[in-house]
Amino acid sequence: MKPNETPRICDYEGSDYRERFWEHADRAYEDAAERLAIRRLLPSSGRRLTEIGAGFGRLVDEYRNFDEVLLVDYAHSMIADARKRLSGSRTGLRFICADLYHLPFCTAALDAVVQIRVLHHVERIDNAFMEVARTLRTGGAYVLEFANKRNLKAILRHLTGKQASDPFDDEPFEFVPLNWNHHPRRVITALGKASLSPTAARSVSLFRLAILKQRVPVPTLARADDLLAGLLARLCLSPSQFIRALKTVGGGAAHGLWRCPSCGTEPLIEEADAVPCPSCGRRWPIIDGVYIFRAEVADSLMAGR
Ligand SMILES: C[S@@+](CC[C@H](N)C(=O)[O-])C[C@H]1O[C@@H](n2cnc3c(N)ncnc32)[C@H](O)[C@@H]1O
Repeated sequence: MKPNETPRICDYEGSDYRERFWEHADRAYEDAAERLAIRRLLPSSGRRLTEIGAGFGRLVDEYRNFDEVLLVDYAHSMIADARKRLSGSRTGLRFICADLYHLPFCTAALDAVVQIRVLHHVERIDNAFMEVARTLRTGGAYVLEFANKRNLKAILRHLTGKQASDPFDDEPFEFVPLNWNHHPRRVITALGKASLSPTAARSVSLFRLAILKQRVPVPTLARADDLLAGLLARLCLSPSQFIRALKTVGGGAAHGLWRCPSCGTEPLIEEADAVPCPSCGRRWPIIDGVYIFRAEVADSLMAGR
């Protein structure tokens, strides 16, 4: 894609992702393994954490030691579902409809960023990482999961002629529209360009095989995964790769939270029903407990009132 082209976005608006992918499918092992990886990589506590592409808020329990938790998703229906399920479950939880390429947070406002099962929908990983780096304070942690294109199954399938695409090629592979598998080397290079320095990695979901998932109890399989995830991290052979990267450069912490995703003005001061921007005049509404930082969603929801 050309440098100035707007990246395509995989819009989950109206999706039944929660029910179809998690509640009505056999993914208890993947869920447990991902939670263990997050526990290994995320700082044990902190002030302000955001999860980017949080969906329906599946992983929110893992952030209980953070004072403020900001769940962000592009799809209004997903984050509204998260709000319906989780509102009142703890203090300091906010629900935000926004695009990861234009986060509505001040520079250096965050202590930690988590992003799980989202990078495979990101066409411009360099831009996405720059935005994470902008919003993290110096020393802040980014816990990232991505779909690894050079996993063992892909390598074996390629070597036996069952998969045409080359798992060793660094370029992202769009296996279906708006779904890209990434090469670990390419991800690490892009993190480095954004001054995000990897300090730990884990190879997760090593046992994603129906026969094992049917026969071995979930806690046992997840514990075995946890034991091997660190040891095998360097080989990068699992379908799901986790990285913790720390923001290495930058100045002091931010004094505010909100930034205008349209014009970049920061900090914005929150009012009872909106976060107004004094520079461009945009009012980002708060509707049914969801902060709306996507102009087209804000306009359509306000028109329907
Ligand atoms: C596969 S789901 C994962 C949800 C959640 N992280 C989980 O693991 O349960 C991917 C999520 O990324 C969100 N997403 C995709 N592109 C996005 C973007 N540009 N900005 C913010 N969220 C995005 C989708 O709306 C969707 O909820």
